[in-house]
Amino acid sequence: MGKVKIFDTTLRDGEQSPGVSLNIEEKLEIAHQLAKLNVDVIEAGFPIASDGDFAAVRAIAKEVEGPVITGLARATKRDIDRAWEALKFSDKPRIHTFIATSDIHMEYKLKKTPEEVLESAVEAVEYAKGYVKDIEFSAEDAFRSDKDFLCKLFTAVIEAGATVINIPDTVGYATPQEFGKLIKYIRENVSNINEVTISVHCHNDLGMAVANSLAAVENGAEQVECAVNGIGERAGNTALEEVVMALNTRQDYYDELSDITLKEIYKTSKLVSSLTGMSVQPNKAIVGKNAFAHEAGIHQDGVIKERTTYEIMDAQIIGLSENKIVLGKHSGRHAFKERLTELGYKLEGENLNRTFKRFKELADKKKKITDRDLEALVEDEIHTI
Ligand code: KIV
Ligand code: ZN
Repeated sequence: MGKVKIFDTTLRDGEQSPGVSLNIEEKLEIAHQLAKLNVDVIEAGFPIASDGDFAAVRAIAKEVEGPVITGLARATKRDIDRAWEALKFSDKPRIHTFIATSDIHMEYKLKKTPEEVLESAVEAVEYAKGYVKDIEFSAEDAFRSDKDFLCKLFTAVIEAGATVINIPDTVGYATPQEFGKLIKYIRENVSNINEVTISVHCHNDLGMAVANSLAAVENGAEQVECAVNGIGERAGNTALEEVVMALNTRQDYYDELSDITLKEIYKTSKLVSSLTGMSVQPNKAIVGKNAFAHEAGIHQDGVIKERTTYEIMDAQIIGLSENKIVLGKHSGRHAFKERLTELGYKLEGENLNRTFKRFKELADKKKKITDRDLEALVEDEIHTI
């Protein structure tokens, strides 16, 4: 098995977080940063959902190079046509089509029989294949679906031309053991599974999206779908930074890593939180304000003697470095703004002026201004706007 592919859905499922709405420039800025982070796939949006989403997917497909660019489409010709209209400008386009496969969804939402769902899925993949080779098919609510129906449907959509099979835990109901078992079952019972990439897409309703994704990797999943800072519908999606660092910190165990450029992680997290307005909780793993902070005297003492006594990761790996330029009361506005940009913040005009003034006041009282101090100043500013 090769490296785990990272499929980023910050701009699609992530943007489905309640209250979040990104404009086209903001989406482009995030997409460029995701390309720097070196994700394998960017899900840029859901083109049929709105004209704005369509325009953003098209702009990303035109401008952003490196990753595969995909857009979501229900299993209908109209959705697929619209997705292709936006995606066709990319060098590496993928159509991502989906239909629900659980009894609950088929009966109450789709009002279709399993046979009708299977037929729609196959037709959608065949139709999308008329546009492009790379087709991802997702069985929405796969984890709560009948597993033999799921296997039958996957076998059929692979025959129809799907290149990636995605297995979502749409409502975040699985535990790692259960989810791992399902992936193994699918691998063993879909005869043509070796022709495609196996992908997983977990939601975090019980706080287990990352653990479930890792259990899936142990059982043969090759692509993990995730969002920066774990944003997304309800309790969110698998957090990209957590899954990547879990793989990275135990490479001997998984013996596969991702291609992510780790030093871009922190900056990406900051950019996403400042543009979405969704702040990161202080104790959030990897990118939270306290993730590398030591409060207890015993811990501080240990870390000073030897960092690895209380740290399993070096903060510098994710791009969180000590100031190279030490900011203090003599620092100018330019150096100040520069450092904020490096930390992933974009402050302009009055916001920048006010924050710079407060920085000077703080620098008068404190010799060395750390990145943490700067973050606190900016977060204060953002939250008082
Ligand atoms: O959660 C889900 O099932 C999804 C699919 C559309 C992939 O987001
Ligand atoms: Zn989802």
